[in-house]
Amino acid sequence: GCMKMKTSFKEATTTDIDAAAALLQEGELVAFPTETVYGLGGDATVSDSVKKIYEAKGRPSDNPLIVHVAERTQLDAFVTDVSDEAQRLMDAFWPGPLTILLPVKEGALAPEVTAGLSTVAVRIPSHPVALAILKAADLPIAAPSANTSGKPSPTKASHVKEDLAGRIACIIDGGTTGVGVESTVLDCSGSQPVILRPGGVTKEALENVVGPVLTDVALKQTTAAPKAPGMKYTHYAPVAPAYLVDGTTDYFQACIRLFQLEGEVVGVLATTETLADLDADVKVSCGTQSDLASIAAELYDGLRTFNHHEEVTVILAETYAEAGIGQAIMNRLEKAAGHRYLRATDR
Ligand code: TXA
Ligand code: MG
Repeated sequence: GCMKMKTSFKEATTTDIDAAAALLQEGELVAFPTETVYGLGGDATVSDSVKKIYEAKGRPSDNPLIVHVAERTQLDAFVTDVSDEAQRLMDAFWPGPLTILLPVKEGALAPEVTAGLSTVAVRIPSHPVALAILKAADLPIAAPSANTSGKPSPTKASHVKEDLAGRIACIIDGGTTGVGVESTVLDCSGSQPVILRPGGVTKEALENVVGPVLTDVALKQTTAAPKAPGMKYTHYAPVAPAYLVDGTTDYFQACIRLFQLEGEVVGVLATTETLADLDADVKVSCGTQSDLASIAAELYDGLRTFNHHEEVTVILAETYAEAGIGQAIMNRLEKAAGHRYLRATDR
């Protein structure tokens, strides 16, 4: 394919936007920035395009994709009903990092998009480059995160290049994404909305608009299968096994020493403040304690950094309060660590 990589632009040019839109209309795949993570877009109405997405990512075919549109009126073509509740959520959070499940119109989208489910996941992203491409293409665009399946999602064009160079037609570089974790996936089909994947829009913000919101219990590693198929896979995983450390800085340091005594080369992922107090083999910083949003923004880049430190045999990561965006951060960290914790209270 014609690998196009614009490295120095934060705002894509009109030429880039038009080229991306044309490729999408021809059925090719284009990676583009959204406010959450980079997406790998393809025409959601064409099976061949959607199949290419699964193939490029190595994604299991039972894991449905999010459809991205520029305007709410585009939904009429492939959604049968928008409830009052869904309407209010769109008014409050679109464009933005909220994905809503809506009943899908049979035959309107490539069947691979929904993986056989009766609902389709949709959102209008707020990133100007994503919006411009969606407007120019004038198509519903299926776009999962633009990473190889199982890897941390891409927050920079260079992450997409690492995973997908040579496998897709084009990468549009819009700089580093803002939120850093994916959109919140919300199921509004029942009597109470349920978060299937915590993300950029917090539970608290949702509750301000629609009242009490539940979180899919299966996200906390119970025996039940998560309702968002994607949440059942080991995900966001760096190369070395990771553990989450829940305790004081002294406890954190003791954990590092114990692993080192066993011959492990220990990498640490923590905020700059915590990192300053720790001694480890490789230290990777991830935001500041004074701002949870900065931790979300730097999380995936931090996890990916360990892919460039092959000497590291075990990763220990700091943990955070599960309030606000902390719910999404901890969900991703728990998945990256396979829910393995080192707790001070376990001693
Ligand atoms: O922020 C985001 O949402 C990014 C950007 C590119 O928009 N996209 C993204 O897509 O994260 P992806 O494919 O990596 O994650 C989609 C998640 C998966 O966990 C999938 O199982 C779930 O949404 N999902 C999609 N359609 C669904 C449906 N009909 N029912 C339940 N879960 C669904
Ligand atoms: Mg993904």
